[in-house]
Amino acid sequence: MTARPATVEEVGRHVGASVELRGWLYNRRKAGKLQFLIIRDGTGFLQAVASEADLPPEVFELCRSLGQESSILARGVVRADPRSPGGYELSLTGLEALQAAEEYPISLKEHGADFLLDHRHLWLRTPRQHAIIRVRAEVIAACRDFLDGQGFLLVDTPILTPAACEGTTTLFETGYFDTTAYLAQSGQLYNEAAAMAFGRVYCFGPTFRAEKSRTRRHLMEFWMVEPEAAYLDFEGNLTLQEAMIVHIVERVLAKRRAELERLERDTAPLEGVRPPFPRVSYDEALRLLEPVEPLAWGEDFGAPHEVAVAGHFDRPVFVHRFPAKVKAFYMKPDPERPDVVLGADLLAPEGYGEIIGGGERLADHETLRRRIREHGLPEEAFRWYLDLRRYGSVPHSGFGLGIERVVAWLCGLEHIREAIPFPRLLNRIYP
Ligand code: 4AD
Ligand code: MG
Repeated sequence: MTARPATVEEVGRHVGASVELRGWLYNRRKAGKLQFLIIRDGTGFLQAVASEADLPPEVFELCRSLGQESSILARGVVRADPRSPGGYELSLTGLEALQAAEEYPISLKEHGADFLLDHRHLWLRTPRQHAIIRVRAEVIAACRDFLDGQGFLLVDTPILTPAACEGTTTLFETGYFDTTAYLAQSGQLYNEAAAMAFGRVYCFGPTFRAEKSRTRRHLMEFWMVEPEAAYLDFEGNLTLQEAMIVHIVERVLAKRRAELERLERDTAPLEGVRPPFPRVSYDEALRLLEPVEPLAWGEDFGAPHEVAVAGHFDRPVFVHRFPAKVKAFYMKPDPERPDVVLGADLLAPEGYGEIIGGGERLADHETLRRRIREHGLPEEAFRWYLDLRRYGSVPHSGFGLGIERVVAWLCGLEHIREAIPFPRLLNRIYP
């Protein structure tokens, strides 16, 4: 019988047939004259049964001795078996080792976080990490499909930039021939130029912040999707965010339920993510915080404040109209109350904190110039940005959604470091 190449994911279509899996030996267990091999091929994990009675001695010996994570070609007959995880099993008829792995550092027992992070390149091979990375890919696809469907055009923005976007304290500096460049903290400013050219745009790319604090929420390098739209006002921007979040959550629930199960994520709170999302002003939020985490007017939220405010609601909540002085220079002051800005943060439920930051942009040339000066930013570097207010300025708004924050929330992760394949953390850039 010739063996057809197959993947674990679609092995159910080959019941009774002889197939060849190309993968790795994930684990092995023995029971008398049987060896149970767990084979993984990137698409899933499948149990193969090797029986001493049915296999040539040298093949059975290989099944018995081959080290964890050896690369293998496994041939066998697919059987439906309700007792095995996934519902299928392979009765092994042949096994070939491409490379016999050395003793594998990650055993199936518990390891500490530092050890696992040092071995991130191998840790990625485990079922839990597979589930998270699949959810991540689904979140990204959902963002793109949603925006494409709403008439937003993907316009990429640069990573090497001459100036700050989100304040000068978290800039990564690098040499650029005989001058200095900074890694992008956000594509927003360029996005605004693109929005004035194309109307509705988004950029999606890596973002860099030299965050000098060690938290469960901060990465030095993360991925952000940033829509920006001409003629979109503050309220319209919130409605867009709401629709996008609902779309992402629904899609992950529809397509990645098995992964959420593997992560033991209670999906009930996610099923309840429906519009409208509550909208509370910064001032109202201070009143909610008063009994638990009091905050003086004018202070920015820290993680405990975000958690406490979000704790009042069963779905994401917008906090809007922050004091102008805690937000970026480009935010439009509220015409009715110029000490606050038309910006909002979207806070995830269940203690996951801010997942989106955005708002309406300052469209007036003179006010923007003043704000740049007040923030101590070099006006020269923003000349092109100011130009956008000289040549056909229009009301416009946008936001940035942090992919890893959303993944951490949807997967119920304790720490954001698992939400990205190779996390860059304070004091960690290896591997
Ligand atoms: O609130 P932020 O700083 O907003 C901006 O950068 C705007 N320029 C975006 C825009 O309007 N186009 O960042 C947006 C989101 C946050 O809500 C959070 O989800 C994520 O980016 N984020 C981080 N994620 C991981 N690690 C960090 N250090 C992050 N900093 C921000
Ligand atoms: Mg923010």
